Amino acid sequence: MDDSLRSRRKNEHIQLALDTYQTAGTDFDKVQLIHQSIPSINKNQIDLSARFPHFTFKYPLYINAMTGGSERATEINKQLAQIAKACEIPMAVGSTHSALKDPNAASSFTIVRDAHPDGIIFSNVGADIPYEKAKKSIELLNADALQIHVNAPQELIMPEGDTQFENWLTNIQEIQENIDVPVIIKEVGFGMSAETIQKIKDIGIQYVDISGRGGTNFAIIENERRPLKDMAFLNQWGQSTIQSLLEAKLLNADINILASGGVKNPLDAIKALVLGAQAVGLSGYILKYLEESGVDETIEHMKQFIEQMHVIANLLNASQLSDLKSVGYVLSPDLQTYVDQRSKVIHRSN
Ligand code: FNR
Repeated sequence: MDDSLRSRRKNEHIQLALDTYQTAGTDFDKVQLIHQSIPSINKNQIDLSARFPHFTFKYPLYINAMTGGSERATEINKQLAQIAKACEIPMAVGSTHSALKDPNAASSFTIVRDAHPDGIIFSNVGADIPYEKAKKSIELLNADALQIHVNAPQELIMPEGDTQFENWLTNIQEIQENIDVPVIIKEVGFGMSAETIQKIKDIGIQYVDISGRGGTNFAIIENERRPLKDMAFLNQWGQSTIQSLLEAKLLNADINILASGGVKNPLDAIKALVLGAQAVGLSGYILKYLEESGVDETIEHMKQFIEQMHVIANLLNASQLSDLKSVGYVLSPDLQTYVDQRSKVIHRSN
């Protein structure tokens, strides 16, 4: 694909993500947390920092992979990095394939490291990339981790998609063996099953981002890009973020779970943490806020978002992330049915 086509696709993705972002009733609304009337901690005693084997997030929140590779993407990446810096949260860039193919596209990514020199930054590639290129992607940003996105539905629906999947798993393993930052296997909004998480753990990967359905929907986005728009029957494909977290919980695998997909407010974020995530990623929500309100207001909004996560933790009497894991919750009947049916076939891995 030539560079102008790739850059045009980047801009289409940004615009369609903004236009089609799902806002109505998600599975987050089907989880009720149990209130505690007599907290034993004060708000200023709450520390929600997330400790991972390779880094610590000051807050359990990060800006997830979106873009790079066009002029519009450069400006967005710069602003997202400014937000990440001001709010002291990590940030992932979008797929760096464009920069790996065309050096002129590199600055749309390096601008992130320039704007946020000391931040935790994740680079991003697809599962088909040779490990030498994965290394270059990490070097480009001096990245702290490498997200490898797994986006089969997107590739299959997108008119110009790459549908060679047979080597994905062995290639992921090869990348992981040849780089010296951790690999995060990341969905793009279709969620992950217990079987997928087990497969990833079995090849020695320590991090997954289960990125589920509920916000940005690449089935809808890519169908919009099809001349006949003839694949709308896949609009609801995949597991929601909550279902994916329930899958991970049933599996109980010793792996670090990052959650993203449709997180739209601090309560959604806390629900994901209660259900086992160690940090929560935002893409479509923050992109939309930035587009509508600009960088300064988005910084203020995100600071409030983080502050309000602490308010909810206080209401749940949780002074740290690990306390959230024992918070009580009730699932809607359909989510409970999902758990009942899946628990019969998911074998706990430890
Ligand atoms: C994305 N996402 C994404 N993910 C990835 O791993 N590599 C990428 O290049 C992109 N590109 C991209 C572009 C745009 C405009 C958006 C909005 C999203 C997917 C993203 O990281 C996330 O997994 C999903 O968007 C689901 O989260 P939200 O948007 O519902 O919070």
